[in-house]
This record gives sequence, C-alpha cells and structure tokens, in this order.
Amino acid sequence: MVRRLLFVSSLLAALLTVPAAAQQQVQLSIDASKPGAKISRYLFGQFAENLGRGVYGGVWVGKDSPIPNTRGIRNDVVAALKELKTPDVRWPGGCFADEYHWRKGIGPAAQRPATLNATWGNVIDTNAFGTDEYMDFLNQIGSQAYVSLNIGSGTPEESAEWLEYMTAAAPTALAKERAANGHPDPYQVKLLGIGNESWDCGGAMTADYYLSQLKIYSHFVRNMNPAQTGNDQMLRIAVGPGTPNTEWTEAMMKAHQRHSWSWDFNGLSLHWYTEAAGWPPTAPSMKFGVDDYAKLLKSTLFMDQFLRGQEAVMDKYDPKKEVALIVDEWGAWLAPLPGTNTQFLEQQNSLRDAVLATLNLNIFARHADRVRMANIAQMINVLQAMILTDNEKMVLTPTYYVYKMYVPFQDADFIPVTFDAGTYTQGSVTLPRLDAIAAKDSSGKLWLEITNIDPEKPAVIEIGQTGFTAKAAKGETLTAPAVDSINTFAAPRTVVPKPIAASLQNGKLTLTLEPKSVTVVSLEQ
Ligand code: AHR
Repeated sequence: MVRRLLFVSSLLAALLTVPAAAQQQVQLSIDASKPGAKISRYLFGQFAENLGRGVYGGVWVGKDSPIPNTRGIRNDVVAALKELKTPDVRWPGGCFADEYHWRKGIGPAAQRPATLNATWGNVIDTNAFGTDEYMDFLNQIGSQAYVSLNIGSGTPEESAEWLEYMTAAAPTALAKERAANGHPDPYQVKLLGIGNESWDCGGAMTADYYLSQLKIYSHFVRNMNPAQTGNDQMLRIAVGPGTPNTEWTEAMMKAHQRHSWSWDFNGLSLHWYTEAAGWPPTAPSMKFGVDDYAKLLKSTLFMDQFLRGQEAVMDKYDPKKEVALIVDEWGAWLAPLPGTNTQFLEQQNSLRDAVLATLNLNIFARHADRVRMANIAQMINVLQAMILTDNEKMVLTPTYYVYKMYVPFQDADFIPVTFDAGTYTQGSVTLPRLDAIAAKDSSGKLWLEITNIDPEKPAVIEIGQTGFTAKAAKGETLTAPAVDSINTFAAPRTVVPKPIAASLQNGKLTLTLEPKSVTVVSLEQ
C-alpha cells in the first residue's frame, strides 16, 4: 500500500515538473527601434444597438428604478465601462438605425410615443432612451458619440435636423429646443455613420444607389458645433463591405478618388462576425469542448485575410491611406441562449471569447496603418458582450477583462515582434499555438501581449529586446479551468486576470504562460 502511494506521488511530481522542452520554449524578440503605426484607441470602441436588452435594461433602467442610477442610467455599468476608457459607442444601430426616427426620442418622457422595434423582435420601444440620454451616458463614461444615420427609411432633411439639434451653438429653433430639453450647450458628434449595411438591411441598395445617397448625406448633414474643427472635426463613415467580395469597396474607393469638394468620407465601415459553421449561427456559447474551441478560433483568424483583401483595393485608390478602414461590427455570433428571445441575440461569454477577442485586437493592431477604428458587437447583453445584466445583477465577462488588460495599448505605437508561433492541432483543425503583439506607450514603457491558444500545454517564452533595456517587468494573465469557463452572477470571478511571475535576468524576461491564456506584461527601462 505504502509502495503504491510512493509510486503515485512520484508520478505526480514528475507530471508537475514538466521539463522545459515539453513546455514549448519559445524565443520572442521585440524590436523597439522600429516603431510602426499608432494603435488607435478607437480600435477599442463599443457598439450599443437598440436591440433586446442592450440599451433597455443594460444601460437604461429609468430614473424611478430601484437599481442605482444617475438620471436613469445604471451606475454599476457606468463604473465598469469607465475602467475600459471606452473611446466611442456606436448607436442606435446596426440595422435598427435605418428605422430610427430621432424626434420620437426627445422631450418629456411621458410625451414620447411608444413605437415597435420591428427590426428586433417587434417589441414595444418606449423611446425613453433617446438622443439626450445617449449623450448623458457618453458623458458619464467619458466617451465619444458615433451616431448612425437613418438613410434607409429617413430623409436627408431628418438627418440634417438631427445633427442641428445635437450640434448647433447658434440660437436656431432646434438648438433652442435642445436647450428647452435641458441641454443649452451643443454636443460633440465625433463620428457619423452614413447608413448601415445599406446593401442589405439598410435598404438593399446597389453600390451606385448608395453612392448617390452618400453624396447627399455627406454634404447636407452638417456638424454645426464651432468647437469641432481640426483634430476634433467630425469624421464621416461610409458603408463598406460585409463579405470578402471586394466589389462594393472597389465602387466606394473608386468614387472617393474622384470626390469633389461637396462630398467626402473619412472611413469605410467593414462588418464581419465569427460564426464557425455558417448562417444561422449554431455554435453554443456554453458547455462546449476543445473541438468547438479550435473551430471557432480558426474561423476568427479569417479576419486577417478579409482585411488584406479590402486593403489591397483601398491601397489602389488611396495609397496615402487617408480613408480609414473601420471594423465597426465584429465578434462571435453564437447560438441564442436557450429560453431567451432569439431576436435578442443573447449568448454567454467564455474564456474562448477572451482568446477570440485578443486574436482580433492583435490583427487590428497589425493593420493599424489602415484599420483605425473597431467596435465590438455588442456592449451589453447582446452577442459578444462586455457586461451581462439581469435586473439589479451585473457580471463582467471574460471579454471585458481583455479590454481592460488592453487599455495600455490605446494610442501606443506598434512595435514589431518575431517568434515562432508553432502549431496546435485539434482534430482536423490546425492553429498557430501562440499570438503576440507589442507596443510602446507615450511614457516609454513597452507592453507585450501573448496569447497561448493551446488548451493543454503551457509555453515558456524567453523575451529579448532590441533598442530597449528592461529593468523591471510585471504583468497579468487571464485563464480559467476550461475553455468554456464563464463568469456568472453567482460566481463572477472564475475568469479574471491574476498577476503573473515575470523573471528578468540581464534584461531578458522569461514567462511561463498557462494553457489557453491571455497575458499582458509591461517592461520599464
Ligand atoms: O449586431 C447585430 C446586427 O448585425 C446589426 O444590426 C447589423 O448591422 C448586423 O447585421
């Protein structure tokens, strides 16, 4: 019996002290002498469509709610989003934008009409959360407006008046109406989306028809805020592609190359979701195994190829990269949670979502010279959310923690890294085992993110730097017991970052990454 115990304990010891080679030792070099493009903070934007419980319940609970709120907006959600330094929130859609009529959402709440949200589930919309509430929410979280115009069922006049209501400083009738609603100062509208998926839910337009609309809206829908000049000027975002086909982008960029003084756009939007097995999305967001993990991550890596295809066309017509590529809808679109309204697009968020988010954010960072903005879909309770709520309860998802860990990358300079990613194979799916990016912030600190995709094997990383002598290092890592681990209202801390031991010797940093983990470390000189 004793002999058997001794045998078992020595076997355990052998398993726990995995030799370095078996732990997948990798050399990674960071070349701080060759900074690349700025990783715009706008790559970390959010999207809050008037859809399901994204806004109503997620952000807005009303002034009389027992849920702690400031002028109707949830305090817990505001506090959580402030931590992310969210640069902008896109609203009111999505497909919903092309049926939104802004006038129904201003003025005394009791006088606002109830309408039907025909885009998402035919549910009653009280219009209690309208333009002034959106601006209040942005102000509370310290974020910029990204307003999507209704060009599908609205008119240029309606949109022009909306911008006048929001931005006019001069005492026009609409500016006075805004003041009467409690907001004498003009708002800033940093980003203006001219339509949404106009080739589909936004009016099923051809590229030529959309271009004719774009020219009208980009000319007549004016930002009247005198403070919005120079770097603060409003940027116009045209509808771009939603499939890898490049015809739409070709038409937009060809026209843009010859644009006149009277119309313009500064960005082209791109939408692409990770679905794994086609449409409608059937991949479960809970209770899945490593096969589903590998399949979804394989599918998400297509983002890189998608961007390259569109960028090649943009480079042809805009070699100076004046027009930004804006990925203003992306993320995992999974099967709706059983028992929920399928039109509300509710899904759980697991460690797999965290890994998926880092892979996409790293792709965007590597394309930072052209991709200068991205908005994950969607902020709360919808698709790949940062936050889930249930009445007074709130939980932060694994994706939320990725966004928090990436805050130092906002507006930092991209720094090239080289390493042998190796491979991880699961059934018929082969993926790179590792992914990494680095950046240098304005204080001179180096930041390194490394993802160990492999769900079984740890990875030992030896990090060397050129153009930078590291004297101190610290970091945190996000992992969990299983690829489908989630945070719940009852157990909210299953997937949260924890400190990682970083050993620094003669300027060389060694890290041991846990399997299926996301790690961010800072290096100081
Ligand atoms: O994010 C959900 C929907 O996906 C948006 O409304 C639409 O733009 C896209 O098709």
